[in-house]
Amino acid sequence: MLISVIGAGYVGLVTAACLAHLDNDVRVVDIDAARVERLRAGDVPIREPGLDELIHEGLASGRLTFHSTQDATHGSSLVIVAVGTLDRAGEWTVDLVQKAVTGLANDAAAPRHLVIRSTLMPGTAVRLAGLVRDIDPRMRVCFNPEFTREANAVRDFLEPDRVVVGAGDDAAALVAELHQLYEPMGKPIMDTDLTSAETIKLASNVFLAAKISFANELARLCAATGADVHAVVDGMGLDARIGRAFLSPGPGFGGSCFPSQVRALPDLAAEYGVVTPLIAAVAPSNHEQAIWIVDRLEQVLGRSLAGARVGLLGLTFKAGTDDLRESPALRLAEVLVGRGAQVTAFDPVATQSGVDQLARAGISIRPAAAAPDVAVDADAIVVGTEWPEFGRLDWAAMAPTMRGRVIADARRIVDRTAANDAGLTVVTLGVEHAPGARTTPEPVRVAVPVGSPAAV
Ligand code: UGA
Repeated sequence: MLISVIGAGYVGLVTAACLAHLDNDVRVVDIDAARVERLRAGDVPIREPGLDELIHEGLASGRLTFHSTQDATHGSSLVIVAVGTLDRAGEWTVDLVQKAVTGLANDAAAPRHLVIRSTLMPGTAVRLAGLVRDIDPRMRVCFNPEFTREANAVRDFLEPDRVVVGAGDDAAALVAELHQLYEPMGKPIMDTDLTSAETIKLASNVFLAAKISFANELARLCAATGADVHAVVDGMGLDARIGRAFLSPGPGFGGSCFPSQVRALPDLAAEYGVVTPLIAAVAPSNHEQAIWIVDRLEQVLGRSLAGARVGLLGLTFKAGTDDLRESPALRLAEVLVGRGAQVTAFDPVATQSGVDQLARAGISIRPAAAAPDVAVDADAIVVGTEWPEFGRLDWAAMAPTMRGRVIADARRIVDRTAANDAGLTVVTLGVEHAPGARTTPEPVRVAVPVGSPAAV
């Protein structure tokens, strides 16, 4: 099928490259001419495992082309709209999506079949469908949300748990085209109405965010009662009704999706006069987590962090991406600096950009050239992102360069045995592992095969 994709951002590029891989001809349109030139030359502007390969494959086969004007959509069966949905303040907005769909409706030679993939607040797609039909009654709209995680997006696209297609009763032909597009994947395709599809997308994300926050609050409770939160979530996760995925406590969730959406959904509910105390609690609960981790560090250190030197490992919102948006590691830096600590940070891909982003917010930290450098003269080390290389650090070499003896591992990535052998105490989300005498038993490990739905 010949299709077009509006937006060469994260969602648009993954969608386009994967659909070209599935033997479709895909034209990607982006108003940023410089970005289009880069992509034509095979220079992929985002970091996403497997994406470079698929884009190079599509360029080589000629199935994937990049364009800077909307004319390129002419002749396509359908257009997928995958433009951004966050404003400068990082809050959800429909402005770019609305501009894109009305622009297409006003172009009589552009396809009359629109598929919106950008995340929409429930109720938006019905309104946009009405808007474009007022321009041209032949316009048909589907909402087809994406469920792809950064750093895993290509696999999530090609092997989805489900595909959701939302449409009005008038869009049967467009729904049939989407089935044709997705059926080769052999995964369940769920057809529903526009508003239900929008709600499935948003509710899935907010539910996962709530699940993480539940685990984070449990970590706080377990630290107080003496339970081991890691054993607790493993034990809960063995209940098939609960599941282990997204139940790992950490420094809080970040990224471009969960934080903005947990803020937007209660606002939407309020607009409808609906009271949602459970959903409304997710954002404030997430905000607390970095504060609690730093409180706990001060407790174990037995001193305030004022004047202390702290090494911070990791700045991105999770491993495998250079994305710093709403990163909990940056939030940890903010809380540490707020307590008067001098922070030196290292990230495998985003040290300088992270330092610069914090500086723009008035928070000053120092960059380190390599992970071991954050240990030099440090009173404590905090791990904010689960980069695999932080699990292989040579603590025997690093410990002697430190002033203090504590690692607050908010990602449970540090090799505790190696750190303990080097005389360091590791605090993983409240669970304290001191050298020699452990205060809590080792957590019960659950063997979860990598790549299974339960693996996080
Ligand atoms: C999320 C969803 O997982 C995707 O399904 C969705 O398509 C995407 O948002 C979107 O709406 O575009 P993403 O933001 O890329 O994907 O990242 P996740 O892997 O979901 O992680 C989000 C945050 O939660 C990260 O900071 C991560 O470290 C944290 N997390 C995740 C935990 O703290 N604990 C967990 O158990 C899992």
